[in-house]
Amino acid sequence: MPKHRTPRVFHGIVSAAPEMLDLFELVRRVARTDASVLVRGETGTGKELVARAVHELSRRSDGPYRAVNCATLSPELLASELFGHVKGAFTGAVKDRRGLFRLADKGTLFLDEIAEIPLDIQARLLRILQEQRFVPLGGTDSVSVDVRLVAATHRSLRREVEGGRFREDLMYRVRVVPLFLPPLRARTGDVEVLTEHFVDQFNESGFRRVERIAPDVWDALLGHRWPGNVRELRNALEYAFAVGEGATLSLDELPPELRGEGPPEEPQKELSLRDMERQQILAALRRSGGRKGGAAELLGMSRSTLWRKMRELGL
Ligand SMILES: Nc1ncnc2c1ncn2[C@@H]1O[C@H](COP(=O)(O)OP(=O)(O)OP(=O)(O)O)[C@@H](O)[C@H]1O
Ligand SMILES: [Mg+2]
Repeated sequence: MPKHRTPRVFHGIVSAAPEMLDLFELVRRVARTDASVLVRGETGTGKELVARAVHELSRRSDGPYRAVNCATLSPELLASELFGHVKGAFTGAVKDRRGLFRLADKGTLFLDEIAEIPLDIQARLLRILQEQRFVPLGGTDSVSVDVRLVAATHRSLRREVEGGRFREDLMYRVRVVPLFLPPLRARTGDVEVLTEHFVDQFNESGFRRVERIAPDVWDALLGHRWPGNVRELRNALEYAFAVGEGATLSLDELPPELRGEGPPEEPQKELSLRDMERQQILAALRRSGGRKGGAAELLGMSRSTLWRKMRELGL
């Protein structure tokens, strides 16, 4: 293999790019404080890894780390997941639920996809962050909590505020320190070091040992735009390990989109069904201004069903 820069490994984040090394330093510094951190970056750029690094480097590292993806839960579930409830607070509340704010006490709470939180929950969230205490749903006594917030989003919160979908006061609360993760295509030298990192990792699995990467594979990897960023690169290499064999990783083992081809033809019937579903979902998303909650409502499905369908359809 060609010799590339020597990567740094920072809490599981592998990189040799100067842009990223600066970010590691910034993470190290803000982690020491209790400031709310907002991690921004395209899908697959490592936002979850950064959130965890903030926790691990903080004085809260002995305390709990809790995470929730705000886009995958219905508003009702999200509210009781975050704030908890007492038994009998509503139909189906058969026992007390502590809620993530209490479970993350003295630790860190990671709110993934924070832009997807409905406005009424945003109001409650703001109150907790200001007062560090709250009353669980159906309860009478307020509980105080000491929680450090880390949030992530692939959207611009500023734009969400302008569109009336996100509270401005909450935006200022959650992004005291914004951290921006550059897309893979903007990280100098990282396609090379990450390729080698993942090849080493898959070699460990013992199913195949790749000793060499063909030059036209490097051309394809370096010429790709990587819309799915590091996750896409990892998946492409996992694909190559799965479909190919032998010590040389060759071009025909890469996924079609990396070989400059479209995805393989699907059977006609399946294609039209999938296509119809895809079009319906895209239309609903357009009508709801891109908000998954609104689109799910229009389609008459739960957010988690919509989330799963979008995944399946590669949306
Ligand atoms: N620099 C990196 N080095 C090693 N692995 C990485 C790096 N960045 C991301 N990964 C891996 O890529 C995958 C995606 O990372 P992660 O889940 O943190 O992305 P994300 O920004 O949260 O994406 P999404 O917005 O889709 O949730 C994970 O398996 C993660 O371990
Ligand atoms: Mg994520």
